[in-house]
Amino acid sequence: MKFFIDTANLEQIKEAQSLGVLDGVTTNPSLVAKEGIEGRENLLKHYVKICNIVDGDVSAEVISTDFEGMIKEAEELAALHSNIVVKVPIIKEGLKAIKYLNDKGIKTNCTLIFSPGQALLAAKAGATYVSPFLGRLDDIASDGVDLIHRIVPIFRFYGYETQVLAASIRSTQHIIQCAEAGADVITSPLDSILGLLKHPLTDLGLEKFLLDYNSTVGKK
Ligand code: G3P
Repeated sequence: MKFFIDTANLEQIKEAQSLGVLDGVTTNPSLVAKEGIEGRENLLKHYVKICNIVDGDVSAEVISTDFEGMIKEAEELAALHSNIVVKVPIIKEGLKAIKYLNDKGIKTNCTLIFSPGQALLAAKAGATYVSPFLGRLDDIASDGVDLIHRIVPIFRFYGYETQVLAASIRSTQHIIQCAEAGADVITSPLDSILGLLKHPLTDLGLEKFLLDYNSTVGKK
C-alpha cells in the first residue's frame, strides 16, 4: 500500500518525506487555502516546490467545472512537473475530462467519490486514481471504510488498473482499516501516519532496555 500525505504544508511534507515511507502528496483547494497562498502564479510555484520535495505523484486539483476549463487547467498543471497528477471531480464534465486526459497520457485522480458507481465510471474513463472520501461519509453516519470494501473487489474483478486512493482519512485506525480492505493508496494527515508508530509496550520495552544497559554495560 502506498502512503500519500494529504496536505499542502511544505514543513509537514518534508517531515513525512524524512520518514522514508512517503510515496506522494494530495492537495485540494481547501488545503491550499489553509496555507494562505494568494494568486494563481504563487499556487503553481507552490506545486513545483512540493514536487521537488517528494519523488512521487502530487495531486493538484482543477477548479473549473466545464470540460474546456478543466482541460486548460489540467494541461497547465501537468506541464509544471512530471510528478503532477490532475485532480478532477466526479461530475459529467469531469468524466469527459478524465477520458480526454487519459488519452493524452496525463495522469488523473478522480475526487469526491462517495459511491461504487462513481468509482466504476471513473475507472472506465481511465482515471489513474479514484479518491473515495471516508471521513466525510462517517460524518453523515454512513460507513466510509465499507466504501473501500465495495470498490476494491469491483476493480479487481474487472481488472481495472485504476488505483483506489482512500482519502478523507481522519485517524490511524482508518489507515489500518483501508489496508485490510485492500486500498492501493491511503492519503492522510501526518498525525494519523505517525500514530501507526505508537504502542505503549514499545515505549515501556525501550525504557527497560535502556535502563538495563545503563545500569550494567554502560555504567560510568
Ligand atoms: O484530499 C481530499 C480529502 O482527503 C479531504 O479530507 O478531511 O477534508 O474530508 P477531509
